Amino acid sequence: MSGSETLLLEHDGAVAIVTINRPEKRTALNAQVRAELVAVLDALRDDASVRVLVITGAGDRAFVAGADIGEFAERTPLEQRAAMTGRRVFDEVAAYPKPVVAMINGFCLGGGCELALGCDVRIAADTARFGQPEVNLGIIPGGGGTQRLPRIVGMGQAMRLVLSGELIDAAEALRIGLADVVHPAADLRARTLEFARGMAAKSPVALRMAKSAVRAAAEMPLGAGLHYETELFVTAFASDDKREGVAAFLEKRPAEFTGR
Ligand code: COA
Repeated sequence: MSGSETLLLEHDGAVAIVTINRPEKRTALNAQVRAELVAVLDALRDDASVRVLVITGAGDRAFVAGADIGEFAERTPLEQRAAMTGRRVFDEVAAYPKPVVAMINGFCLGGGCELALGCDVRIAADTARFGQPEVNLGIIPGGGGTQRLPRIVGMGQAMRLVLSGELIDAAEALRIGLADVVHPAADLRARTLEFARGMAAKSPVALRMAKSAVRAAAEMPLGAGLHYETELFVTAFASDDKREGVAAFLEKRPAEFTGR
């Protein structure tokens, strides 16, 4: 296991597991955690041995309990704006060329929920709790929550969570589409890794294109999105992975994708 001061980095085959390691602060996101997350994403971006990322929190209490409240408590608007410029981890995971899975092991609040919303798939323990409690502090979500949450759960449920600050349990998160899958807490890691390994066995070229195409659905009008999908679809035909995937099917053998 390697990593940085606030992150642990493990490799399970082609799956990299990034654990935010501040359990005593319920994994709250301070500037150091955010910078180290961006750095680990950079380090793994062009590493062909890593095909899927899993992000989680250390311990069994919190995935991420939000932005570090102590850090911004005394900030002026200008200081806060300065702290929010530059690369933002929420956007980095959303635009990442490899799938990023949020393995939600506990409280998933505020900036933690926004980090999960930036990820591609949210897999939660049945003990996890979700919410955007910023209104309790007299602020609003600032890590993309007001935009990504309604795109994922719909306007009504997003309003309900953002305006009430109410926490919901994993079953409720699953029902409204905030969690995509829920497992008993004891099985969360094994089941999430099983899912991630399955993705990691697919073509990296196809994964990159598929993520980009699905992401476009939240950004483009339907006609432009369908056009974009077609362009990516035909481009996939230029890849070794497409030749290998089709050949493997016809030859009734498992495909071995190279990511080219
Ligand atoms: N920022 C900074 N510190 C945080 C934090 C946050 N978002 N969330 C938790 N902590 C700290 C607590 O201050 C406490 O520190 P201390 O031991 O030095 O006093 C420590 O983490 C443990 O928190 P505690 O409240 O005792 O744990 P809990 O398990 O009883 O409750 C939460 C967990 C997450 C429900 C609760 O800590 C909480 O409501 N946190 C704030 C959530 C929030 O508003 N997030 C949005 C921020 S914009």
